[in-house]
Amino acid sequence: MSVQTLGHGVGLRRDHYDQVLEGETSIDWFEVISENFMVRGGRPLHILERVRRDYPLVLHGVSLSIGTTDPLRKDYLLELAKLIERVEPAWVSDHLCWTGVGGHNAHDLLPLPYTEESLAHVVDRVSAVQDQLGRQIALENVSTYLTFAGSTMTEWDFVAELARRADCGLLLDVNNVYVSAQNHGFDPLTYLDAIPTDRVWQFHLAGHTDCGTHLLDTHSTPVCDDVWGLYRYAVRRFGARSTLVEWDENIPDWGTLEHQSELAREHADAALKESGDVQ
Ligand SMILES: [Fe+2]
Repeated sequence: MSVQTLGHGVGLRRDHYDQVLEGETSIDWFEVISENFMVRGGRPLHILERVRRDYPLVLHGVSLSIGTTDPLRKDYLLELAKLIERVEPAWVSDHLCWTGVGGHNAHDLLPLPYTEESLAHVVDRVSAVQDQLGRQIALENVSTYLTFAGSTMTEWDFVAELARRADCGLLLDVNNVYVSAQNHGFDPLTYLDAIPTDRVWQFHLAGHTDCGTHLLDTHSTPVCDDVWGLYRYAVRRFGARSTLVEWDENIPDWGTLEHQSELAREHADAALKESGDVQ
């Protein structure tokens, strides 16, 4: 599946419904959290349908739990399929993680051990999800704060191999690569260089918090200079890709968020010029 390049978007959050619905924005597209709209009706779906009239949408899930050993939840996938039919998103994404096991929800996006066994497990599950939805999905790399002693491959090799074997897309979160690189002491450029360019459908950008001993992926601050630099490297390597700024804590006024998206556009345009990929 080749996906459209949508330009520059932001996550649609309740705080900004009025600004988004009432007037013109400089935003090209919106990403929404799928689970917030997997409901029978009411105001959230009404808002979503109004936004969809004017903008492309992408559905981004947080509870597929593709890495767990629990069975895939057929009821969840049925609800997701209904939402897909209703809003016709440009694509659907979730996270490369597990969120619980044995029916218990950890309410967190937990990393996987990077082994052949877990790779085969996730490949099978992605294939099953794609079969049930009748479409490819994209998976996002998460920020990590621990690694497994049993891992036998790097995260970037695991992600690249997953995309190839499962024939899925990737949502490359540039901030998450940066946060994990700082926390674990690897070179973020090594990560980006290992990812197959044709698999990346979308970039995420966000702010994080420096906790002294580690970086925490809080989505509560503007994108930092180092992450802008990494984003420019990513655009030079992967080309123009749909880019989304996430901001979920201490949500700013609409103008501040719009400005972050405008900055992303400026950095992307500059990177494309640097790589000679623009007329
Ligand atoms: Fe993200």
